[in-house]
Amino acid sequence: MTPTRLDAPGLLDRARELAGLLTDTVDGGASVGFLAPLDPEDAVAWWHERAEQVAAGRLAVWAALDGDRAVGTVSLAFADKPNSRHRAELVKLMVHRDARGKGLARTLLGTAEKAAAAAGVTLLHLDTETGSPAEHLYRATGWTRAGIVPDYAANPYGVLRPTTLYYKHLAAG
Ligand SMILES: CC(C)(COP(=O)(O)OP(=O)(O)OC[C@H]1O[C@@H](n2cnc3c(N)ncnc32)[C@H](O)[C@@H]1OP(=O)(O)O)[C@@H](O)C(=O)NCCC(=O)NCCS
Repeated sequence: MTPTRLDAPGLLDRARELAGLLTDTVDGGASVGFLAPLDPEDAVAWWHERAEQVAAGRLAVWAALDGDRAVGTVSLAFADKPNSRHRAELVKLMVHRDARGKGLARTLLGTAEKAAAAAGVTLLHLDTETGSPAEHLYRATGWTRAGIVPDYAANPYGVLRPTTLYYKHLAAG
């Protein structure tokens, strides 16, 4: 399945499908910035806000589409400070629970990394809940573990959890 990069109108069109993926991820207990239960309409509104960032060139969003369903997504948030244009943060890598274990996250990650390099980004970074399944994926794809920040964010059930920071250098161009 080839991920599609969404422009701002495309993201608005797909906001409801992506909201379904986001609520499934939160319901599944993953720490992606939200507490459970996530109201589906709040999830739609959150994606609508992302469309403004896409239009401004500060965010790139990909969706893996299975017919009308969004089964996976990943985004890149570009640093906007003048001294940080070489850097981007990989955010919101999510695969629907019923599409996991088939290599889709690897594909999404590879797509975002290639696009970042093509855009001149030479450093990627991310954070993920310490001990989450995603850690295996990042280690297996050449990311370096920088360290752990305790009590970084609450999981969907409101319990503060540590986060692990990762980075990856990309070859220019
Ligand atoms: C983490 C996540 C994106 C993985 O998606 P996926 O499509 O199932 O991952 P893939 O099938 O591409 O697997 C990639 C690698 O991770 C490993 N992996 C995936 N899920 C795993 C799990 N639960 N436990 C251990 N390893 C796991 C796979 O074995 C694979 O490794 P391999 O290629 O060396 O065999 C998915 O579980 C998810 O959406 N989780 C919730 C959201 C989240 O935590 N996102 C990351 C936020 S930073």
